[in-house]
Amino acid sequence: MHLKIAGDNLLERAALRLNLVPLPIAHTHLLLILARAVIEGARAGVFEALAAAPLTAADVAARCALDKAATGRLLGALTATGYLDMRGTGDGARFSLTAMSRKWMLPESPRSLHDQILFTVYEDEWIGRMGDFLRTGREVSGGGHGGAARDAEFWRLYQRAMRAIAAGAAGEVGQRTFVPRGARAMLDIGGSHGLYSVAICRRHPALSATILDLPEAIAHAAPLLAAEGLGDRVTHLPGDVLATDLGTDRYDLVFLSNVVHHFDAATNRALFARIARALRPGGAVIVQELIRPETYERTGQMGALLDLFFALTSEAGTWSLSEIASWGHAAGLSPRKPMFLRTIPGSAQQGAVKRA
Ligand SMILES: C[S@@+](CC[C@H](N)C(=O)[O-])C[C@H]1O[C@@H](n2cnc3c(N)ncnc32)[C@H](O)[C@@H]1O
Repeated sequence: MHLKIAGDNLLERAALRLNLVPLPIAHTHLLLILARAVIEGARAGVFEALAAAPLTAADVAARCALDKAATGRLLGALTATGYLDMRGTGDGARFSLTAMSRKWMLPESPRSLHDQILFTVYEDEWIGRMGDFLRTGREVSGGGHGGAARDAEFWRLYQRAMRAIAAGAAGEVGQRTFVPRGARAMLDIGGSHGLYSVAICRRHPALSATILDLPEAIAHAAPLLAAEGLGDRVTHLPGDVLATDLGTDRYDLVFLSNVVHHFDAATNRALFARIARALRPGGAVIVQELIRPETYERTGQMGALLDLFFALTSEAGTWSLSEIASWGHAAGLSPRKPMFLRTIPGSAQQGAVKRA
C-alpha cells in the first residue's frame, strides 16, 4: 500500500506517465494543507457536528464556533478529498459525512482515529525538526517523547492515540500471538491501554496479564483498560521497566509492543537478560515492533516513512528482525520464526523461548 497521486481522467493519467506533473508540489505543499485540514477539522469538532444530519457551512461554523467563510473553505477541501459529501450549491449547500469519515473520524466509532489525529499536533512538532535529526542523528522528541516533562494533555492523548492504532490490530494479535501451552501469567511491558493483553487473555482464558508502564502513562491508560471489563485478569503496575524487579521464573509470556525502539542496543540486551530470568522454563518473550527493513524496496512506502519517523522520534529507531533475535540469543533463549502482522504494515513479532 502507498500514497499515490492519481489522475482523474485520461489526459491527467497520461501527463503523470509522461512525468509532466510536478509531483514534489503534491508531496509537500498539497499534503501539508491536506494534513492540517483534517487535523484542524477534527480539533474543531467539524466531523462530530455533521454526525447526526447534513448541515450548511454556516450551521457547522455556528456549532463549532468558527468563522463561516473560513469553514466553507475547509468543508470544500474535505469534500474534494473524500471526507464529506456535498449536496446543493452556494450558501444553501449541505455537507454530510462519507462512510470513511463515519468509520475513522467520529470519536464514538469503534474504529475511531480521532485521538491519533489530535496527537499528530505533537508529532508535527517533531517532524518539523527533521533537519536537526539529519544533522545530528539524534532523536528530537526529548527522550522517551519528553517523558515526565510533558503535560497531562500530552500523556492523555499519547495513550489514547496508541489505543486508536492498536484497535485495528488487537484482533489479529489476540489470534496469532504465540502463547506457550498452559500459560497462566503474562507481563506486558509498556502495555499502556492494555488492548493487546486484553485480546490475548480473551483468547486464552487461563491467562492473566500485568501491564508494566510509566506512572504518567498509567494515569491516563487506566480508564481505557477498565472499559475493557476484564477486571482482575488484566491489571496495571506503575514502574520503569529499567528499574523494576521482574523476578525469577515468574511469567509464561513477556510481551513488548512498540517499546524496544525506546532503548539502545545495550539496554535491550540487558533487559532481555532480565526477561530471560523472569520467564518460567518453556516461557516466551514476544517483541512486536515496526521492523527496520533489510531492503527499502520490499518494505513499501509506508514502512519506509514510518522507519524515518521512528528514528526521528525515539531513542533507537527501528530494529531489524536479526537484531531483536540476537538479544534473545544472547540471553540464552531460542529465537522463533518471525511473523509479520497483516493489520499494521511493516510490523512483525519476533519471539524467543526459554528451553523447558
Ligand atoms: C509506543 S507506546 C506502545 C504502547 C502499546 N504497547 C502499544 O503497542 O500500543 C510505548 C509505551 O512504552 C511505555 N514506556 C516507555 N518507556 C518505558 C519504561 N522505561 N518503562 C515502562 N514503560 C515504558 C510508554 O509509556 C508507552 O506507554
